[in-house]
Amino acid sequence: MNSLEDPKVVEVLDRLHRESDAQMPAVREKVAGLRAGGEMPEDWPEQLRDFFLPVSPEQGRFLYQTVRAVRAQRVVEFGSSFGVSSIYLAAGLRDSGGGMLIGSELVEDKAATARRNIADAGLADYADIRSGDARKTLQDPGGSVDVVLLDGGSAMYVEIVQLLLPHLRDGAVVLADNIGPEDEGPYSSWVRDPANRFVSSSIMMKQGTEYSVWLGMST
Ligand SMILES: C[S@@+](CC[C@H](N)C(=O)[O-])C[C@H]1O[C@@H](n2cnc3c(N)ncnc32)[C@H](O)[C@@H]1O
Repeated sequence: MNSLEDPKVVEVLDRLHRESDAQMPAVREKVAGLRAGGEMPEDWPEQLRDFFLPVSPEQGRFLYQTVRAVRAQRVVEFGSSFGVSSIYLAAGLRDSGGGMLIGSELVEDKAATARRNIADAGLADYADIRSGDARKTLQDPGGSVDVVLLDGGSAMYVEIVQLLLPHLRDGAVVLADNIGPEDEGPYSSWVRDPANRFVSSSIMMKQGTEYSVWLGMST
């Protein structure tokens, strides 16, 4: 049995996806209001503090598959929210023989709930959810990083990846939510530029998920 079939994991993920689905009309209304002025305001994490905004079940399974495929031992997550993606990633680590997810969440209450949800899924030994601004809390991920999930707002993706570059192992996979094939924002431009030593493409999951492999500095 893999951990995605573990009854505890299934029960928690089903509950969280159900609760998140029920929030969707309210999320759409709130986000439309915030976007009325053009760009999202800087305090959007606080304004959306009650909402999951999680990866889809399909993306979650892909996260699990990626952790298993590269036999990851250390995974970093920018934007943990209530811990949905964290559970998929930590499940992959447990089934790969162990390891640690370093999560990050700006809103303290959300980080606390994420830790509780991960513990309810029986995965507390595989996750360290750090509360505060990821630009500080991810400065030292504690070792070589095999997989990164970027899901804390695309405006900060370049900065977070650049922060993590010295820690990425050759062949590390960086997944970024909400980056479609036609995206021309700062992150897609940066990560698709061969000079920055990634090979990158957008996979059509949800609104698009950028899948990038770090080539390292030596080849
Ligand atoms: C889209 S949600 C993440 C969803 C999560 N990955 C999941 O699948 O459940 C984005 C989260 O990033 C958090 N966030 C935004 N800016 C951040 C920052 N600078 N540092 C840490 N977390 C941040 C927000 O508070 C929000 O909870």
